[in-house]
Amino acid sequence: MTATREEAEEAADRVPGSRLSARLYEPVLWLGEKTGFRRWRHKVVAQVSGSVLELGAGTGLNLGHYPCGLERLVLVEPDVHKAKLLAAKPRPPGVSAEIVRAPGELLPFEDDSFDTVVETLVLCTVADPEATAAEIRRVLKPDGRFLFMEHVRSDKPRLGRLQDRLEGPWKKFADGCHCNRRTVPMLKASGFEVEVVAEQDKFPMPPVVRPIVSGVARPVADPAS
Ligand SMILES: C[S@@+](CC[C@H](N)C(=O)[O-])C[C@H]1O[C@@H](n2cnc3c(N)ncnc32)[C@H](O)[C@@H]1O
Repeated sequence: MTATREEAEEAADRVPGSRLSARLYEPVLWLGEKTGFRRWRHKVVAQVSGSVLELGAGTGLNLGHYPCGLERLVLVEPDVHKAKLLAAKPRPPGVSAEIVRAPGELLPFEDDSFDTVVETLVLCTVADPEATAAEIRRVLKPDGRFLFMEHVRSDKPRLGRLQDRLEGPWKKFADGCHCNRRTVPMLKASGFEVEVVAEQDKFPMPPVVRPIVSGVARPVADPAS
């Protein structure tokens, strides 16, 4: 059964977050945004269409990249402090974006509600990536698209092993972010067909958060249905 808004908000209250980390988020990312992330965000977010859900919208760094004339835009963000900063940002032209406090693991929307789900740098942070992927799949229409941009565990053996060793300290330093998630295989195992559109190893970010991948995932038809 779909969670109610109240149940989702209660679950959102249990997601870690603080006023300080919300305030520091954009200054900490400033260099990365200037030297690459902004361009990547644009490539991912400009592709959305129809009825759109953004997962973990944070402080709203994607808002300036949405196309005009969307049917619906819902911005899901569990952290109350980031949600406040998000609410203060200008909306894309012609779209009255609604902010909903919920974790990715418990989305208060009916099945098959959205044409596009989009996220940037969120599957690295959610507590339960598999449960989040299942919720994304559930709320997407059968012909919908999940657009993502994530840093993932490196295939290079030395860097991958370093990311495994640094997972704990990095998580403490970077607000719950896991630097060694195998997000693309996880999406495939969760019932998506995944097309990696771009992968970049030489990003001007610390090696623990490389490579960055962006792509499109489409729900695979359920053989039982
Ligand atoms: C690294 S920030 C990315 C924010 C934004 N998407 C961006 O690209 O700037 C990770 C975001 O995921 C959110 N988050 C953490 N746990 C979450 C969960 N379980 N479900 C959904 N979002 C979550 C955080 O509050 C934060 O806004």
